[in-house]
Amino acid sequence: MATYITTPIYYVNAQPHLGHAYTTIVADTYSRFSKLNGQQVRFQTGTDEHGDKIVEAAAKQHVDPRTFVDQISQMFRDTWPSLTIAYDRFIRTTDADHIEVVQKILQKVHDNGDIYFSEYTGLYCTGCERFLIERELEDGKCPDHQVEPKEITEQNYFFRMSKYQQALIDHIKNNPEFITPERYRNEVLSFLSVPLEDLCISRPVSRLDWGIRLPFDEKYVTYVWFDALINYLTGIGYPDGEEFQTYWAGAEHLIAKDILKPHAIYWPTMLMAAEIPLYRKLHVHGFWNVNETKMSKSLGNVVRPAELVKAYGVDTFRYFTLREMSFGLDASFNSEAIIARNNSDLANDLGNLFSRSVSMVEKYRDGVVPVATGDDQSDTVLPDAAAKMLEEYREAMADFRFHHGLRAVWEFVSEANRYIVKNEPWALVKAEEKQKRLDQVLYNLLESLRILSLVIEPVMPQTAQAMRKGLGLEDQADDLRTMQVDGQWGLLQPATQLQKIENLFPRIDQEKQEKGGDKAKKTVQTSAKEKKDTKNLADGVITFEQFQGVELKVARVVAAEPVKEADRLLKLQLVAPEERTVVAGIAQFYKPEELIGRNVIIVANLKPVKIRKVRSEGMVLAAKTTDDNNKEKLVLVTVDEQVEPGSKVA
Ligand code: ME8
Repeated sequence: MATYITTPIYYVNAQPHLGHAYTTIVADTYSRFSKLNGQQVRFQTGTDEHGDKIVEAAAKQHVDPRTFVDQISQMFRDTWPSLTIAYDRFIRTTDADHIEVVQKILQKVHDNGDIYFSEYTGLYCTGCERFLIERELEDGKCPDHQVEPKEITEQNYFFRMSKYQQALIDHIKNNPEFITPERYRNEVLSFLSVPLEDLCISRPVSRLDWGIRLPFDEKYVTYVWFDALINYLTGIGYPDGEEFQTYWAGAEHLIAKDILKPHAIYWPTMLMAAEIPLYRKLHVHGFWNVNETKMSKSLGNVVRPAELVKAYGVDTFRYFTLREMSFGLDASFNSEAIIARNNSDLANDLGNLFSRSVSMVEKYRDGVVPVATGDDQSDTVLPDAAAKMLEEYREAMADFRFHHGLRAVWEFVSEANRYIVKNEPWALVKAEEKQKRLDQVLYNLLESLRILSLVIEPVMPQTAQAMRKGLGLEDQADDLRTMQVDGQWGLLQPATQLQKIENLFPRIDQEKQEKGGDKAKKTVQTSAKEKKDTKNLADGVITFEQFQGVELKVARVVAAEPVKEADRLLKLQLVAPEERTVVAGIAQFYKPEELIGRNVIIVANLKPVKIRKVRSEGMVLAAKTTDDNNKEKLVLVTVDEQVEPGSKVA
């Protein structure tokens, strides 16, 4: 079967970052891997350009939406080649063929009676571009965007999504591979365990006109998700294109967990209503954080792919993301980790294996691949290890367990490095009767490298090419190379002349990187200063700057009550001068009513935490002392009631 791999089409309200790069690298890797496996593959990515969010972003830049989307979409198209991403189509929701297909599908679903007109009041999150339901909110806010959704009442068109709920549940239950990893399948089934609401799929032109008009009502544009999801069909020429016939049955969508619901619920039910077979698979990955913190513009820690490529090289970046993230789970990015992977897995293990093997062949055999008529027939260490590796690798990569696939490859790399140490070619070369054995050892190493150049190609295309050049295989026609054929042992032809190539992976010096003023490195590095600060803390001292980082304020207690089922805790309502709630472990020492009107000192910039289901926004200071019975006692630090709440404690 042909394979059709897609990425989400990215909103053009933000420039490409690490998260977009990861998904697109995964899709590219899977596309290359499937090709190497002899499959016919199509790969699509693109940009999502309609909707409120885009209009807002354009307005902020004081440009019209059209100019704005052209600019940002171009940034995505400029980024992908620098990550050696080779897609077949870059689709934009503003493309003419897409607009036509969206209207065709809307008309079809409308004609079938699954779109109706009604009034609706709901809570809309512009970040998500969808109405949220109460149970999705946390503290009244959208959990992903941390903003309260807007209440909107409108007359709109609705898609009868609820009608397809049971059919969707049945499909998911009957097809265990439809949504993977399993945790996301379970999440979707749990969401479907209560009745689905119908989906509002229009916006009045009076509120938003940057969208695709409904073919049956010019006063409305279609909802961004209804528009965006259909890109997967447009891109392969739905309904009549030959490619649609070839590829749709093999459609595999790749997304992160943030857009699970639109892909796992809206999209399949839309397809059912439009009488189109469902896509084959949905692969869902986790989120990249940076230094354990969520990437966000306001925190200034957004990592840009171009900066990473410049700092570490494209293949190190690609390898790192695939090796480091367990597909499906979240992962954290930082420069120490990427440098460690570069220096250990790439420079030390693979790079050294390559340079040691090739330089021995140069030195001992004039750079010519020897004939492996070795006399030790029992030496099948590397062919056996290669076969085992290929099996594990194929299975893991096909299953989107890239970190497992790469681990299997690196076990083989280690085996080959051990083979050098064990066989000591430098000793063999000195003994005349060992020359055939030396030929065999060298051949085994070179053949291992040839197979390695194949299996790393999906992940590190440039390195694979360089290795093949070094092995004198550059001229082999690319379309003749597939792993099915070339994964066999012994295809490297004796008498092939090796070529000189540059070091595959230079080591990266952490210290030098820190001194360099590169912004990418700064974003993702624990700086020298931070390291010093950490050391100071460990030594029990802090710097003045660190002390300045603690915001101490005067706060007035306006209400206090015990926390349920916690006999040591009091919940204090404070004014400083803004209202905040702080939970304090002082119930054994103070009665709530004693505290009202007192001025206490709080640490105002502590990260809020939940204590016994109460959100505590700060900490009150107290002196630790002992009572008459020598028992520990806390006494609140207070200041004169004349002092204004909110005053800084310097
Ligand atoms: O949702 N870690 O677009 P979008 C990993 N236009 N991946 C991340 C990430 C992170 N921190 N941040 C973003 C949209 N991504 C819609 C999609 S599809 C029909 C319409 C990646 O620009 C990940 O693939 O918000 C995620 O699903 C996607 O970017 C969201 O991109």
